[in-house]
Amino acid sequence: MFFPISIHSIPCFTLFFILFLYILFNGDDIIEDQDSEYLYRVPYPIMRNSNNESWIKSENIAIVIVLAEGVKREYYKIAINSVECYAKAHGYQFILTHDNVWGCDYLKDKFFRRHCVISKILPKYEAVLHLDADIGVVNQKRKLQEYMNPQFDLIFHDRHFSPEIGMASYIVRNTQYGLDLITEFSNYEKKLPEGSFHGTDNGAIHMFLAEKLFPHNLIELELCRRAWRNSQNVADQFAYTSCIRSLFGANTDFGKVRILRKVRSLSSVFRCPGVCMCVYLYHLYGTGYVRDDWLTSGIWSLDRDFMLHGLKTDHLKKVPYGPLRVSPMSQTSWYSPFEGDFDMERCVLGNTTWNHNPRLIGTREDVECGLRKHEMKIAVKKNHIYQ
Ligand SMILES: *[C@@H]1O[C@H](CO)[C@@H](O)[C@H](O)[C@H]1NC(C)=O
Ligand SMILES: *[C@@H]1O[C@H](CO)[C@@H](O)[C@H](O)[C@H]1NC(C)=O
Repeated sequence: MFFPISIHSIPCFTLFFILFLYILFNGDDIIEDQDSEYLYRVPYPIMRNSNNESWIKSENIAIVIVLAEGVKREYYKIAINSVECYAKAHGYQFILTHDNVWGCDYLKDKFFRRHCVISKILPKYEAVLHLDADIGVVNQKRKLQEYMNPQFDLIFHDRHFSPEIGMASYIVRNTQYGLDLITEFSNYEKKLPEGSFHGTDNGAIHMFLAEKLFPHNLIELELCRRAWRNSQNVADQFAYTSCIRSLFGANTDFGKVRILRKVRSLSSVFRCPGVCMCVYLYHLYGTGYVRDDWLTSGIWSLDRDFMLHGLKTDHLKKVPYGPLRVSPMSQTSWYSPFEGDFDMERCVLGNTTWNHNPRLIGTREDVECGLRKHEMKIAVKKNHIYQ
């Protein structure tokens, strides 16, 4: 699965440099250039197990959605229905609960409270998938076990538009390590730097994991901690997460923790076996099981997508007439991937036949090309920030 990252020759650096300059000065061109076959025609790898899916039984896996006090299921009706119907179809436990009935009220921030709730539920199962309420399942044929691995107690994923670990979802196994980590993390609330733009749990997970996984890198930890403490806006927050990510390097696996990646450092993207020949290394990292819906205007692929994020009832829009393009749309709109409502009575074990809106189903190539273009745009912007 992993190739060693190596840069073979000096000319390769020159090539990178030229590429960098090209990106800096012709950013939009490179994004639109359909001839960039190294960029847009290369599939994102999908990290899935095809080995033994039954190493962990479905009935011992709980899918948990924690709502803040007073939040109603209707606010996320389609997303939650899809998750419940999916859980029923495969025999997973489905738990929809509120965060005020688990003894987690001592935590002030609802974002931390939900992790506390997860830590209370986890001991009853072998594993828990935590999902934000606005995540829906689109590809009901996928199984959670495909994304799990006996080697890892915690599986996080990168968000698609930033170098950030997303806390909207993770998978944790009921081991001492998994339980301790989530419990400790929920209590990390008290370490949020006061008065800074800290990003609550999404910001905190970076510092927390860095302290856990690199306890001896004191200097780097301190530098990142200062960046977090001094953060006043999104750009600062970005600098802070980048600081942490440089500690993590290009790895995805850290002992019992795995971070499903899609962002690669440029040096790991190209490999240059000949003086002027670079090939794209696409076997490096897998992609997560959930991504933001708006990135592709709601178009998804049966081959690559599993869950979509951002399905809030009051942001639902009608699918427009006319041809649809696989490109980012407003972050506050989405189209329902489904035709008609879920009939919860018919969501039973073995029913994986759902009615999708066929107009929103795209090919893997189209969806990935759209995602890659967006990723490239972000990378170009990042370079501008660093200038
Ligand atoms: C898969 O794992 C289950 C449970 O550990 C076991 O019973 C089954 O024989 C395994 N199947 C294969 C094909 O290895
Ligand atoms: C399976 O469940 C879906 C979602 O509720 C429903 O639309 C469909 O009719 C069901 N299929 C069968 C064969 O019952």
